[in-house]
Amino acid sequence: PLTAKVNSRDCLEIGGCDLVTLVEQFGSPLYVLDEFTLRTACRQYRDAFKQYYSGESQVIYASKAWSCLAVCSIVASEGLGFDVVSGGELYTTLQALEQMGIKERAGDKIYLHGNNKSVAELEFAIATNCTIIIDNWLELETLAKLGANTQKPIRAMLRLTPGIECHTHEYIRTGHLDSKFGFDPNQLEAVFTYVSQQPKLDCIGLHAHIGSQIFERQPHQDLAEVLVEWSKKASEYGLSVRELNIGGGLGICYTEADDPSSIEEWVKAAAQAVEKACKAQQLPLPKLIAEPGRSLIGSACVTAYTIGSRKEVPEIRTYIAVDGGMSDNPRPITYQSLYRTVVANRMSAPLEETVTIAGKHCESGDILIKDARLPKTRSGDILVVMGTGAYNYSMASNYNRLPRPAAVLVNEGEANLILERETYEDLIRQDRLPARLVEDTS
Ligand code: LLP
Repeated sequence: PLTAKVNSRDCLEIGGCDLVTLVEQFGSPLYVLDEFTLRTACRQYRDAFKQYYSGESQVIYASKAWSCLAVCSIVASEGLGFDVVSGGELYTTLQALEQMGIKERAGDKIYLHGNNKSVAELEFAIATNCTIIIDNWLELETLAKLGANTQKPIRAMLRLTPGIECHTHEYIRTGHLDSKFGFDPNQLEAVFTYVSQQPKLDCIGLHAHIGSQIFERQPHQDLAEVLVEWSKKASEYGLSVRELNIGGGLGICYTEADDPSSIEEWVKAAAQAVEKACKAQQLPLPKLIAEPGRSLIGSACVTAYTIGSRKEVPEIRTYIAVDGGMSDNPRPITYQSLYRTVVANRMSAPLEETVTIAGKHCESGDILIKDARLPKTRSGDILVVMGTGAYNYSMASNYNRLPRPAAVLVNEGEANLILERETYEDLIRQDRLPARLVEDTS
């Protein structure tokens, strides 16, 4: 539901802000985040759980999709919790909550993930009262030791690899058995036995995440069933499993060919599967948690670029270059991801040519979109790539020493800067020049 329209200047408007004016004001490339769309997705998840699940539920935002103060605070204000996978994401979330005035019990709705958390990260999470999603044996043993020094037992969940395949890009499948994440189901008994012997580990639940950009509902229904079976088993070992986390993974529409389930239908399917399985196993309903990232924020953002050079390779293709590329959106080069694009300053111009949108990096593969249908463009036109909210800023780099773009939050005609554009000084801020090198050259 991106609040997009074409205004009387024939320009694209998002959140009531003219994209061309935004670029004049804030420069390009520019991430433009629509607050309404983000809040709407948060509410859709929350409301669907209320409507279709009779137990307790909690939606947590997979902040790896885009972690920064403004995004975290919007999501928190909608009542969502957080999935963080590093000390850095945890710090960012806590800072956002603190600046909103939430200091006490800030960790209550934060879950720390990761397949190789450092001791410092674990200690940070324990000190801030987060729930830790235990991924492997080393972590289990480390937590058992750390628990000896804590007053209260450490709140934790176990991440399991359910062996559920789903049709998505191979790199972003995580639920199949050959995965670096989580405990192998063959070790369940050993894990449950070990955990049941640790008085300072309160294993409150089980977790699994099966992949990303998934369109169907069936994989999560299957997952719900498996998790309920496993929690039954856990209870036989004396563990009181009272939360089930089914991960994230619902896909979004990047192109017309994409046909993901709606948030409502996805939640309904998973929630009903949990209820049905619990009934069959005669288990009380657990607190049900989902941790979406992409489907919360992916569609809420666009990236605006300024078009620059043009190269025609006769009879092969025409390249149009923009002022960003794989550093602000590494998804096309990493996963061959597809995106839709429009020319924001001439929205009703007829689509006259097929062009390839190239970035400005020193790599032939730095192509944002192949064979896009566009109006005849000129240098200086504003090209907008849609659906860049998830895993763009969060995976951005300074490759070729490009400063990272700015981001603005738009809502009802107002635009607020939420990420400043990096400067050249920022690029060398962490650089250190050993004095020896300076002396040598004098
Ligand atoms: N929970 C866990 C444990 C995860 O690993 C992930 C994503 C999520 C939740 C959120 O999944 P989502 O709802 O966003 O699909 N960089 C890749 C995506 C990597 C996903 C990593 N894990 C991309 O750009 O497509």
